[in-house]
Amino acid sequence: MDDNVLVGVHTGDDAGVYRLAEDLALVQTVDFITPVVDDPFLFGQIAAANSLSDVYAMGGVPLTALNVVCFPACELAGGALGEVLAGGASKLREAGASLVGGHTIDNPELVYGLAVTGRVDPRRILTNGGARPGDRLVLTEPLGLGVVATALKAGLAAPEDERLLGEVMARLNRVAARWMQEHGATAATDVTGFGFAGHALAICRESRVDAVIDWGSVPLLPGARAALGSGLIPAGAYRNRDAYASRLTIASPDADSIGLLLCDPQTSGGLLVALPPERAEAYARRLRDEGLSYARVVGEVRSGAGRLAVR
Ligand code: CO
Ligand code: CO
Repeated sequence: MDDNVLVGVHTGDDAGVYRLAEDLALVQTVDFITPVVDDPFLFGQIAAANSLSDVYAMGGVPLTALNVVCFPACELAGGALGEVLAGGASKLREAGASLVGGHTIDNPELVYGLAVTGRVDPRRILTNGGARPGDRLVLTEPLGLGVVATALKAGLAAPEDERLLGEVMARLNRVAARWMQEHGATAATDVTGFGFAGHALAICRESRVDAVIDWGSVPLLPGARAALGSGLIPAGAYRNRDAYASRLTIASPDADSIGLLLCDPQTSGGLLVALPPERAEAYARRLRDEGLSYARVVGEVRSGAGRLAVR
């Protein structure tokens, strides 16, 4: 393979990285989703934040983006598609990235996302593979996005839970990414479809370490427990849990619920960041000061062979 492919398809990382010069590489990613909320503008914001997230998770800065759109031409008349794209454009502006094109097809179901190109200094790339024993893990946004979104679709989410869900999913990981570099992060990923457990296990596998999570420190979206109690659990949470069963140990009488919340697929979730022990708390505090009120140190990295334990 071309030596300039610094991050390719084999490590389960968030985006590919291609070196152009000693101090400059491209970060490239594409992501698109079906609607998670009814409001088209908010959906556009969430889809764009979700697409941009993989660039941030690699330690990069987004530069340009292309719209990827499938939409039902007859049903989505009346400007709904325009609202979706306006929502996406608002997030690109916030990210300081430019929309430079895109492609649309007629399709029975609405799908929207972006192909994003960013830049990174090749010496400062953050992958799944850099965590070291002793590092602490910081989670920058709450879990429970999937179960609350499922409750919302069933008409069972409280208005305040719905508002908080939209706020978290539409929030860029820009601030979290900027400060992780400043605090000497060793590994990072964003928490999305594989759930917290799946993405934490990817760090464990690629870094050849174990991780121990302190469940009491893990931030949850308000409404997550209630949604779980109502049995509103996305099928993906069960699929993830089955897939990780041999590598995930939960020492708690509440292991069933905890396992589902840790395996709940997240749309546009936060970052999971490994940092040196003496800097992790300062990083989480900085993020809370910047308005990321859920950011917490949630566990630590141990020497090991790719397992995740929760206590
Ligand atoms: Co990702
Ligand atoms: Co992705």
